[in-house]
Amino acid sequence: MPERRPEGLGRTGSPLRVGVLVSGTGTVLQALIDACRAGEMPAEIVVVISNVPGAFALERARAAGIPAVTLDHRSFPSRAAFETALRTTLDGAGVDLVCLAGFLRILTPGFVDAFAGRLMNIHPALLPAFGGKGMYGDRVHETVLASGARVSGCTVHFVTRDADAGPIIVQAPVPVEDDDTPATLSARVRREELRAFPLAVRLFAEGRLRIAGNRVRVLPAAAGSPPRTNAPAAPQDTAAGPETRVRLRAKP
Ligand code: GRF
Repeated sequence: MPERRPEGLGRTGSPLRVGVLVSGTGTVLQALIDACRAGEMPAEIVVVISNVPGAFALERARAAGIPAVTLDHRSFPSRAAFETALRTTLDGAGVDLVCLAGFLRILTPGFVDAFAGRLMNIHPALLPAFGGKGMYGDRVHETVLASGARVSGCTVHFVTRDADAGPIIVQAPVPVEDDDTPATLSARVRREELRAFPLAVRLFAEGRLRIAGNRVRVLPAAAGSPPRTNAPAAPQDTAAGPETRVRLRAKP
């Protein structure tokens, strides 16, 4: 396995190598592709892997010139064999960071441990609420609406052995409106997801994330690499203190 590079760009001077795991349409993947292309983060996506043959996310990767690999979990004799293939592909691409962008397979402790501290997931609610086993897609939004919560949002977090319970990197809230359906709430949350994941990857790539227990400390930009001139400032990351929590502001 390649050597882990927890300090990001500031240490090595080369762009962070990112692998993205997908299962679906790849809207979040597209946001990451666009952010890399726009120079908003010192990172490049070096491989996209789908466990679903024909997933549209693979088309997005190919259109961007990124190697797109299908590893159909159903064609492997066991979960372990599937994950071995995943690891071999990711290691072969020399990834520093793995992003789960709509990847609908549970990963075993062995896989999670192998990528500890460099495996991120995005969830379409404000964790630790509305997460855990079976909470994905519209089920999340249906549960939020049924609960009567007035606020939902999205969360980008490091993946640990427990589903949706790892250290939180970025959260973005959105209001729940009286007449919301799962579809309208999902669309509002999605808009924030497209901003939140690129921000989390950028912070990682700039070497600004430190995991302390179940919390993530976000170092100010000056402590990591110098900001790229065309990179948007991270919302609320200019606090005077030595570190700050990152929360995207919901658009009005
Ligand atoms: C997002 O809602 C994400 O939170 C969830 O899957 C969705 C992304 O799907 N894990 P895609 O990018 O459109 O395939």
